[in-house]
Amino acid sequence: MHAAAPPRRTWAILVAVCGLLLPLIITSMPTARAAATRYEAESAASISGSTVDTNHTGYSGTGFVNTPNASGAWVEWTVNADDAGTATLGIRYSNGTTADRPVTITVNGSTLGTGTAFAATANWDTWATKNITATLKAGSNTVRVTATTAGGAPNLDYLETGTSVPVTPGMAVAPYEYFGWGNPPSPTAVMAATGVKWFTLAFILSDGGCNPAWDGSRPLTGGDDQAKINAIRSAGGDIIISFGGWSGAKLGEKCTSASALAGAYQKVINAYRLKVIDIDIENTEWENATVRQRVVDALKIVKQNNPGIKTIVTFGTTTSGPDSTGVDMINRAAGSGLANDIWCIMPFDFGGGSTNMGTLTTQAMEGLKAKVKAAYGYSDAATYAHIGLSSMNGKTDVAGELVRIQDFQTMLAYAQQHRIARLTYWSVNRDRACGSGSDGDSCSGVPQQPYDFLKVFARYAG
Ligand code: GCU
Repeated sequence: MHAAAPPRRTWAILVAVCGLLLPLIITSMPTARAAATRYEAESAASISGSTVDTNHTGYSGTGFVNTPNASGAWVEWTVNADDAGTATLGIRYSNGTTADRPVTITVNGSTLGTGTAFAATANWDTWATKNITATLKAGSNTVRVTATTAGGAPNLDYLETGTSVPVTPGMAVAPYEYFGWGNPPSPTAVMAATGVKWFTLAFILSDGGCNPAWDGSRPLTGGDDQAKINAIRSAGGDIIISFGGWSGAKLGEKCTSASALAGAYQKVINAYRLKVIDIDIENTEWENATVRQRVVDALKIVKQNNPGIKTIVTFGTTTSGPDSTGVDMINRAAGSGLANDIWCIMPFDFGGGSTNMGTLTTQAMEGLKAKVKAAYGYSDAATYAHIGLSSMNGKTDVAGELVRIQDFQTMLAYAQQHRIARLTYWSVNRDRACGSGSDGDSCSGVPQQPYDFLKVFARYAG
């Protein structure tokens, strides 16, 4: 259970020992949400007919709001969202009685459902969080909680965003597929067989200069790649495009300034009207601190120029979480003010053996969680909403390492428990048994039916 060499070394060894020329390999990554923000009740935009009290313990901020024992009083928060969509709002409250405290909740003036009841907590010093689901518009929203019975509302501590579900359903599970190699299955056939709607398409690389091309050579538009993307969208799906991977010339290195790199990313965003991009940063692009900073700064520019776009950063890991380079990347991004949406690790190629990769993956994820939480200061729930994993099904790149279906089930359970932002893998091309011979790019190396691995992750609702 010690940290093995990161993927880059693994590859160096494999290439040296086997003399293989591997076209493009490896992967990764994550999803979208309203920024994680806590809105204290005592500083809400409007508090009607209520007091701010401090006579109970355990509240956050400088106090809590106590509505009178009557119907009609309210607390109204102003809540910001990056873009329109469904969001989960957590309302922290206490109710030291033995009866529910019913309220109505209005979002931008519209009443949510048939009302919300805040169940009793053990006493007035005990706080609980009730999650509600609301549709927000981009920008500023009003969320009002109004007491509807003689008891009044519960004591209200805060409203928190950042535990929201992806703006677009299904984005959390977006398997990697590459169309240029590895005998790609038809994406619409994958959709029909598994119910999955999103794909992460790999890889955009440098065409030799600071200019993007599929695998460094195929045009963005007008070719087979675009035809397949159009087919995915016609079938009700959508795509994340991934930049980088292990092999080939990286835009982060070929573009020599953050603005030039952002310009290269922008060409791809414009070509496909992308809502999400994945930077799968590996190898020399990852090892160079100047390049890492360039990527961070370029993503900041991308976010400024494309309101609501989601960014994913995907990278290798040890069994206990990000190595020093990974920690540097996260801290660098936080220090630079990059509101990256998803930090995604690739929990494999670390010599994890053949029977324990599920558990090692959850350990690596807890390590990632701690680093992201420390860097960004998110709550636990908001941190999980900003992390993800991209595993590798079946045989990995390291001899003897094996990710089994039951390991995917362990990862699914972890995702469901913590509501992580991304649960994906490398790759749908490999999600089938091998025929004669074996090929790391187009089959898993283990006995299976087509898409057995994806069918596990497809159960994750995000
Ligand atoms: C108690 C409690 C208050 C609370 C009130 C209520 O008086 O101390 O904090 O608001 O009950 O019933 O709402």
